[in-house]
Amino acid sequence: MRTHLQIAIDGPAGVGKSTIGERLARRLGYLYVDTGAFYRTLTCIALTTDTPLDNAEALDALARSIHIEITPPAPATADGRSYTVLVDGQDITPQLRLPAVDAAVSQVSSHEPVRATLRQRQREMADTQGVVMVGRDIGTIVLPEADLKIFLTTSIEERAKRRHGDLVAKYGADSPSLATVRDEIVQRDARDAAHTFVAPDAVVINNDHLEADEVVERILQIIAERQRGGQA
Ligand code: DC
Repeated sequence: MRTHLQIAIDGPAGVGKSTIGERLARRLGYLYVDTGAFYRTLTCIALTTDTPLDNAEALDALARSIHIEITPPAPATADGRSYTVLVDGQDITPQLRLPAVDAAVSQVSSHEPVRATLRQRQREMADTQGVVMVGRDIGTIVLPEADLKIFLTTSIEERAKRRHGDLVAKYGADSPSLATVRDEIVQRDARDAAHTFVAPDAVVINNDHLEADEVVERILQIIAERQRGGQA
């Protein structure tokens, strides 16, 4: 039995993985690792170095050449971030969610050599400490021996409603319509589908009717039950 658990949370975009993963990690005192940040980081650096996004070899060489460090945010960081990403010591966190990165990250993450390199880095983070690792392929490929695997789902309608609500709160009348937001989610799912897997031993949680904190409580309950039953 491991002293520090590995908890994998997988699922498509917009199902609340990050919020739930971060809160769960905080409750357990574990490191929260958002693996999407690795692909976003490489995308950011590829864009700034003009590395062609269709060149798997060049992107992989770039991935191998940079040192990516993900740390809890410093207390003085006031931009609402849940982690800080340093590339060769430089903070690039604010750039990870730029529209240009959003647009290019699916392509960058589609290259197998890139995935193999970044997965290795992700595994290393889980070697020495308890982690809640969030992504698409964590329970199946990155941490197949994880102590608990959760796969989160939310219906397209609910995800579109939530995302649209966030955009309206942020941009008001300039927000795209609900139908546009829904279409974007469908397209994004299609792009990421090849890398999104449900582990056969995952607990699937649909959160259409659950708040993030209710999902966190449910996961904590599963952990407690498994520990009582000697399974974790
Ligand atoms: O979760 P996110 O939106 O930050 O993910 C960014 C991109 O990285 C998205 O296109 C899916 C991809 N990704 C992946 O292929 N495998 C992961 N484990 C995490 C993210």
